Amino acid sequence: MKLNIAVLPGDGIGPEVTNQAIKALKAIALEFNHNFKFVTANVGAMAIDKHNDPLPEETLDLCKSSDAILFGAIGHPKYDNNPTAKVRPEQGLLKLRKELGLYANIRPVKAYETLLDKSPLKKHIVQGTDISIYRELTGGIYFGEKQLSADGNVASDLCMYSREEIERIAHLAFQAAQNRNNKVTLVDKANVLESSRLWRKVVAEVAEQYKDVELDYLFVDNAAMQMILNPKQFDVILTENMFGDIISDEASVIGGSIGLLASASVGEKYAMFEPIHGSFPQATGKGIANPIASILSAAMLLEHFDLFAEAEMIRQAVDKSLKLNISTPDINIKYDNVTTGKVGEFIEDFISNPDDSNMNFTNIHLGQSTII
Ligand code: IPM
Ligand code: MG
Repeated sequence: MKLNIAVLPGDGIGPEVTNQAIKALKAIALEFNHNFKFVTANVGAMAIDKHNDPLPEETLDLCKSSDAILFGAIGHPKYDNNPTAKVRPEQGLLKLRKELGLYANIRPVKAYETLLDKSPLKKHIVQGTDISIYRELTGGIYFGEKQLSADGNVASDLCMYSREEIERIAHLAFQAAQNRNNKVTLVDKANVLESSRLWRKVVAEVAEQYKDVELDYLFVDNAAMQMILNPKQFDVILTENMFGDIISDEASVIGGSIGLLASASVGEKYAMFEPIHGSFPQATGKGIANPIASILSAAMLLEHFDLFAEAEMIRQAVDKSLKLNISTPDINIKYDNVTTGKVGEFIEDFISNPDDSNMNFTNIHLGQSTII
């Protein structure tokens, strides 16, 4: 298959983790005889520095003319600590989502057997967790009208949803549940918010078309608690934009590190793949950023094009790296010198030589080929 992939590494650790995903994709292309072409473009704080625009026109054009987008991370402390900044890196990502119509953000959350001890939660609570979060991505409070009074003392953000916006992601969530454990949990705040009551009404109607899927509802405050108390109760979580943002960061502690969580953002026409983590400025260039979220985002990219064996190969490589402790310090329980690049190299090597599965970590010379 021929794929043109736009690469938007962005800020902070974005470039270093994205590079590892590219290594994995290149190894897959070689093994499976695909033709993947990568073209890089600017986004975020680095794009503001260069072009005074967090999403330059040429970046958007590249995304629109590509088959898929691999996104790194966005954000810089110089904007976080400046509430009056007129141009912000995050605007680049939000505009990208909106312009490309990426209305559904899919965030899988899984407890890896090998990492159960890394989770701050008790092992028996996290073991077996397997959730798919469907977060609405182009509506709600993120995109509603914003106002700041002339004297700068009163501000508001409108949370607005239409039936169509709810329906289209609800269908995706129910279809996903049909391929999983047939359960959708709608997370909302219908006891307080009118927009949430519309979600309940519309989602209940959509559910009529999916009789084999059980639908239940949770208020977001309760859902936040349930996520920690008993994450195994969830199969597919369907929720609006901001609740999904918050609940997915919370869910990331289950797996032991936010550095493991990948995501796909899809719409009618375009698809973008990105880790759920941010730009982690303190770690930039230190080689400690976990590239797995980006590498697993690449696996989701492959699945999007029905390249299932290829995606599975990446997942196997990731599992192997976790088993052998070839991982960055956030999850490594044995070695403290495994860098972002070394994890990427291991995954790349594994893809090229999957049969060499009995490699013994103590026998391999990390940093060079793992195949000796
Ligand atoms: C995410 C991020 C973004 C969001 C930020 C960077 C705008 O937190 O993708 O979860 O809030 O959607
Ligand atoms: Mg977030």
